[in-house]
Amino acid sequence: AEEKSETINRIKQLLIDEDAVLVAHYYTDPDIQALAEATGGCVADSLEMARFGRDHPAKKLIVAGVRFMGETAKILTPHKEVLMPTLKAECSLDLGCPPEKFAEFCDQHPDRTVVVYANTSAAVKARADWVVTSSMALELVDHLDAKGEKILWAPDKHLGGYIARETGADMLLWQGACVVHDEFKAKALQDMKKLHPEAAILVHPESPENIVAMADAVGSTSQLIKASQELPNETFIVATDKGIFYKMQQLQPNKTFIEAPTAGNGATCRSCAHCPWMAMNGLKAIEEALTDGGETHEIHVDEALGKKAMVPLDRMLEFAA
Ligand code: 13P
Ligand code: SF4
Repeated sequence: AEEKSETINRIKQLLIDEDAVLVAHYYTDPDIQALAEATGGCVADSLEMARFGRDHPAKKLIVAGVRFMGETAKILTPHKEVLMPTLKAECSLDLGCPPEKFAEFCDQHPDRTVVVYANTSAAVKARADWVVTSSMALELVDHLDAKGEKILWAPDKHLGGYIARETGADMLLWQGACVVHDEFKAKALQDMKKLHPEAAILVHPESPENIVAMADAVGSTSQLIKASQELPNETFIVATDKGIFYKMQQLQPNKTFIEAPTAGNGATCRSCAHCPWMAMNGLKAIEEALTDGGETHEIHVDEALGKKAMVPLDRMLEFAA
């Protein structure tokens, strides 16, 4: 514990010395979230992280999350140095949507408006008309649908399917999935709900259709946290990464939060409600990023590619504003 508080103190000083600010996602370790809050940084969903990084005056951004979050920050502010605790923090949605294959898919459907989830590489974003996050995807597709546009959606099939069902829009879906959310099991969730009939079920829309169907609230991480404050229930079953419990419990210390089940029917889960890449972010790695920086921790995005990807990202931020 003493060692940890020493590391925290060193990071606090480094953030000041280096004119850096810590931008963390709700799925990161509680120590990181607490540190971001204590040092004037932010803990947020992926849309708010992008906005905060763009607007904050610091010269360096330390992005604690996964690669696409660091890349988004770099694309939006190419003049800032964007560092990550580890460059190995990927995302299964990003990995499951290789740029060349995606370009072929787009070429085959030139009549469709290309909408991609923020959980993608810079190259995939560069090919898109729009980038969205889960907090505003529904509104945007609704808006495009009202204008009569047909959508090509990538990469998350569950989020895409959810939006198509809600809006009735014509959406052609790339078949990607998140290794964490794909593991939630409906039968086991029904059993859990029977044990806690008073509980409200909160679901991130990267979860399968039969999980979303049981939800009292569906939304981005920020929206789920908000729902946990606003719904009158005392107990919540939460189908998303367990990192989110830190903020939920902090805001509602008297409420009870339970992890939605991931291993129904005797199946074993691979990621058990915690993203293996988010888990790579640690205090030591943040200190390293601030001291070594450069080669091992800095995010680089090809300049021409970055310029192209900035267009749909700017559109996203403007639409969500
Ligand atoms: P949010 O935009 O809801 O923070 O989601 C990001 C993410 O990676 C969810 O798995
Ligand atoms: Fe990607 Fe899933 Fe991890 Fe979110 S939880 S970063 S979607 S792998």
